[in-house]
Amino acid sequence: MIEPHKLADRFPDDFMFGVATAAFQIEGASRTDGRKPSIWDAFANMPGRVFEGHNGDVACDHYNRLEDDLDLIRDLGVSAYRFSIAWPRIFPDGTGPLNEKGLDFYDRLVDGCKARGIRTFATLYHWDLPLLLAGDGGWTARSTAYAFQRYARTVMSRLGDRLDAVATFNEPWCSVWLSHLHGLHAPGERNMDAALHALHTTNFAHGLGLEAIRSEAPNVPAGIVLNAHRVVPATGSAEDRAAAERAFAFNNGVFFEPYLKGAYPESFMQAFGSRMPKIEADDMAVISRPMDWWGLNYYTPMRVRHDPAPDAVFPAVKEAPFVSDVVTDIGWEVYPAALTELIGELYSRYDLPELYITENGACYNTGVENGEVDDQPRLDYYAQHLDAAADAIAAGHPLRGYFAWSLMDNFEWSEGYRMRFGLVHVDYDTQVRTIKKSGRWYGALAGAFPRTG
Ligand code: NOJ
Repeated sequence: MIEPHKLADRFPDDFMFGVATAAFQIEGASRTDGRKPSIWDAFANMPGRVFEGHNGDVACDHYNRLEDDLDLIRDLGVSAYRFSIAWPRIFPDGTGPLNEKGLDFYDRLVDGCKARGIRTFATLYHWDLPLLLAGDGGWTARSTAYAFQRYARTVMSRLGDRLDAVATFNEPWCSVWLSHLHGLHAPGERNMDAALHALHTTNFAHGLGLEAIRSEAPNVPAGIVLNAHRVVPATGSAEDRAAAERAFAFNNGVFFEPYLKGAYPESFMQAFGSRMPKIEADDMAVISRPMDWWGLNYYTPMRVRHDPAPDAVFPAVKEAPFVSDVVTDIGWEVYPAALTELIGELYSRYDLPELYITENGACYNTGVENGEVDDQPRLDYYAQHLDAAADAIAAGHPLRGYFAWSLMDNFEWSEGYRMRFGLVHVDYDTQVRTIKKSGRWYGALAGAFPRTG
């Protein structure tokens, strides 16, 4: 095992260690203080979409346990908290009247962090689109981008004086491809045309969101959180390598290139240009506004091989077998070196700003025994990935901080509550929180930072 103090020596004194959550996954209180349903409330109610029909009505009851949970973050020893703001609490209809009580909750959250010396990293959109906007087409409709801009302005004018950083979107790959093409996330569509519309609307909304942040809170560092994929070809054959390059364009390029180069990848446009929604004259300039930082969420590599089927749709790849035989309880391959490789690859391809690893962590469903949660495999996962992150710093990349996913077990989207990623165990019957072995280990490392001489 890698000792926390040995790892600590590999990070600069001002490195920032935090924990991350998202509103829908922890808050519960789904009908409290004026909140109305999001697309995830509706999706969870559709038979067969979420494991055993689990939903976000109660979740970790964080909305009602805010102060205790902030104490927990402080007691763990971390210096930053990444959370998301629930759009359906702020504008319950998506557009229309503002719900002051929703804003009040995040006011208390931010003040509570400040009072405890915890830095605040807010995400504006972590997948809980107000349901009423779905009636107008949701992310496939351009009007949703303008609704997002208004929501972003409102949040930033109220909280901007106390945020240390803000991200427009969390993992647009999920809210675009997983939600509209693969059908596994809300709204559960399986339609390439819908997905292509969602892609451009989301990217456009990101640009409008940056504008909103700059106009209301110009001092808050602004960015986006991406689950960039380390795409690895199954073999060194020319076919598999070409397949990996196509997969890179489809899964990474369609986000990175518009943001950093103001254009969609050429190979992607050759395949889908005629089916993309109309790209208005200024869209790409809006989308490519400069950012101060970006966030990387990394869990596992993507292994691909060429798909020879004549009707295979771009990027025409098939999944390839894992290389490592270490797999977490959700079935994801553990391969820490891919984190270092991915950071290196992205900085060599793009002119990227400062980086935070905004999510990294592992699913292990270890229970409580005699008041303890002995989750050694999660601890090992963190140790190995932090070591890989330190390798990226040693290679000269501007990595400034790291957030563990997650503070506590929570609603793991279509997997419901059965898949646990927390440093803290949650008993969903009693809402009792128990710090796991990994949580104590991570807290011991994080607690040493920032180091002041
Ligand atoms: C990424 C997402 O941002 C988060 O919501 C999710 O729980 C974790 N990955 C684990 O799947």
